[in-house]
Amino acid sequence: MKAFIFDLDGIIVDTAKYHFKSWKIISKNFGFELSKNQNELLKGVSREKSLDRILSWGGISIDRFEKKKYLEKKNELYKGFISNLSQMDILPGVNKLLDFATIKDIPIALGSASKNAHQILEKLRIKNKFKVIIDGNLTSKSKPHPEVFLKGAKMLGVNPKEVIVFEDSIAGVKAANQAKMVSVAICKCGKIENAKYNFISLDDIPLEFFEKMI
Ligand code: BG6
Ligand code: MG
Repeated sequence: MKAFIFDLDGIIVDTAKYHFKSWKIISKNFGFELSKNQNELLKGVSREKSLDRILSWGGISIDRFEKKKYLEKKNELYKGFISNLSQMDILPGVNKLLDFATIKDIPIALGSASKNAHQILEKLRIKNKFKVIIDGNLTSKSKPHPEVFLKGAKMLGVNPKEVIVFEDSIAGVKAANQAKMVSVAICKCGKIENAKYNFISLDDIPLEFFEKMI
């Protein structure tokens, strides 16, 4: 394997729960309760597309000015929840993998839909580990479109087939598969459909798993 691309929310740090909390509040504003199953379909999806999905689930239509207001509100809520993020919040197994990649000279990229990615990596103090950061500001097509990962591979100068993608979302696994990369799903649910490999946590991946692929 020539490179690793990590998703951010739910892979590097458990911010997925804060996206859920924020969207729950917004959905309540629209008069309905956002379910866990619906939230799974928001993971990996851009802020704008997420709001569109929520509006369609609620059968609500609003104009673009109102949409902008709710997108700002959601991000304010979210930023409030993540204001105290620190190195302590890095998920188990992340540092082990980052160190392994450094020792083996495997370049690392971030492939995330989030426009908050840079700030989050700074808060976690691991931004310097990433050779390339593709975030929501550099992409126009939301996962499951493979744009984010293909851009990452291109900027790293590697063939997509030689990239391992770590993802916690259904949309992200689809995006990695569409990019013809090796999808490794990390989910407490046990299994994300169509992922090449599934693990409960990054910490559960034995390093020999990679040795075989290098
Ligand atoms: C993804 C999350 O990483 O980023 C989504 O899984 C989120 O839940 C998306 O909507 C956009 O994030 P942000 O930080 O730009 O609102
Ligand atoms: Mg994610």
